Amino acid sequence: MSLLERLFGRPKVMIEALGPSHAGKVAMLHATSFSHGWDQPEVARMLADPSILSDGVFSGTSRLPAGFVMSRLAADEAEILTICIDPDQRGRGLGHLLLERHLANLVRRSVATLFLEVEDSNAPALALYRAFGFNKVGERPGYYPKPDGSRALALILRRDLG
Ligand SMILES: CC(C)(COP(=O)(O)OP(=O)(O)OC[C@H]1O[C@@H](n2cnc3c(N)ncnc32)[C@H](O)[C@@H]1OP(=O)(O)O)[C@@H](O)C(=O)NCCC(=O)NCCS
Repeated sequence: MSLLERLFGRPKVMIEALGPSHAGKVAMLHATSFSHGWDQPEVARMLADPSILSDGVFSGTSRLPAGFVMSRLAADEAEILTICIDPDQRGRGLGHLLLERHLANLVRRSVATLFLEVEDSNAPALALYRAFGFNKVGERPGYYPKPDGSRALALILRRDLG
């Protein structure tokens, strides 16, 4: 914590870039949200990869992120690889704030077009993306394997930035 934060208190919610030191918590957050886990070494590699922009949301005095978002950049396009918030802290606007700041960071990195894939039944994620003006540009039938053996439809969404 900086001297200013010690004197005046830490802001309630902060968005900060993530690095390899956050790999343990990021892998844990990912595992709580998705059945196909990312192991910690893989996450550490992603957090160190200069072509991946990773932002975390920090709530209260915790030094560990309550959620994160990662996008892979290629020329002037990017793809959101994942976004997730700790299940105990969902529905409080953290995802909205995190995505808002992440989009601004992508604009600073000269990204003009952003894509992502989302399961068509993922209501919270769809609500979040719609709030930011993402539009459906395609579908991948049978893309996501489900625990019951069936496969779910993925929607491809796009948002122009800048
Ligand atoms: C999607 C996710 C990141 C949203 O994070 P969050 O912090 O709960 O979201 P917020 O509280 O900022 O709410 C964002 C929007 O979603 C809406 N929303 C949140 N939870 C919702 C729910 N259960 N059902 C419907 N809409 C919901 C909010 O109303 C809000 O809309 P607004 O921006 O127009 O006000 C979070 O639910 C999550 O981590 N899900 C599991 C991982 C996941 O599925 N990621 C997406 C992969 S593509």
